[in-house]
Amino acid sequence: MLSIRLESLARHINFNDHIIDIGCDHALLDVYLVKNNVVKKMIVSDIHENALNTGKDNIQKNNLSDRIEARLGDGLSVLTDDDKIDTILISGMGTSTILKILDNPYLNKIDKLIIQSNNDHYELRENITSRGFSIKAEDFLVDNNKHYINIVFVRGNKKYSKKELKYGPVLIHNKNYLNFELSNCQKIYNLIPRMKLRYRLKLKREMHLLKNTIKEND
Ligand SMILES: C[S@@+](CC[C@H](N)C(=O)[O-])C[C@H]1O[C@@H](n2cnc3c(N)ncnc32)[C@H](O)[C@@H]1O
Repeated sequence: MLSIRLESLARHINFNDHIIDIGCDHALLDVYLVKNNVVKKMIVSDIHENALNTGKDNIQKNNLSDRIEARLGDGLSVLTDDDKIDTILISGMGTSTILKILDNPYLNKIDKLIIQSNNDHYELRENITSRGFSIKAEDFLVDNNKHYINIVFVRGNKKYSKKELKYGPVLIHNKNYLNFELSNCQKIYNLIPRMKLRYRLKLKREMHLLKNTIKEND
């Protein structure tokens, strides 16, 4: 059975998406997508041969080699114009790796990005929205006691405030998410030695902003 984390990504994929999963590793999500006819076929890739081989084994075991093509290589460099990919899925990496992958002319051909980054969501949103994408959906989820954020970007220009880029234009209305951020801040604040005044002040401001944002949702 697919994990809650991977299943949450599958929900953003439509039958007509021409999709690549970059950094597929085990390819569990990709096998699920094709096996369940969420998409007819797709490309998966990984930069590491061992990781891709794990994915290939899974694809073969499920007799899906004619519908899932596995390619070895760095990010979007595995694609050519003939592939006609319009949707990118990236999960389980940090924002700086994700942004390096997207720094490629092939991005101009892309209509949709489904991203589950491990960190730095402000930078992720700021960078991708500045490249002509807007945010269509966001999820905050817990799987196996770990927290994840999905962000779906689609073509279209939209201006976002700093606060929206920080908490997410969708997640800014999600009390569970805001409370999670608030309790994280509180935990860090409690651990910071008293003499680290600047850092403590920064966290105080952050907690104040979060509390106000939570109140605005009441
Ligand atoms: C933690 S795994 C995530 C696997 C899967 N996407 C998931 O969410 O469960 C990250 C994978 O990304 C691959 N990776 C890292 N940088 C990459 C790049 N520039 N291009 C392609 N794959 C990359 C790694 O080799 C690794 O297999």
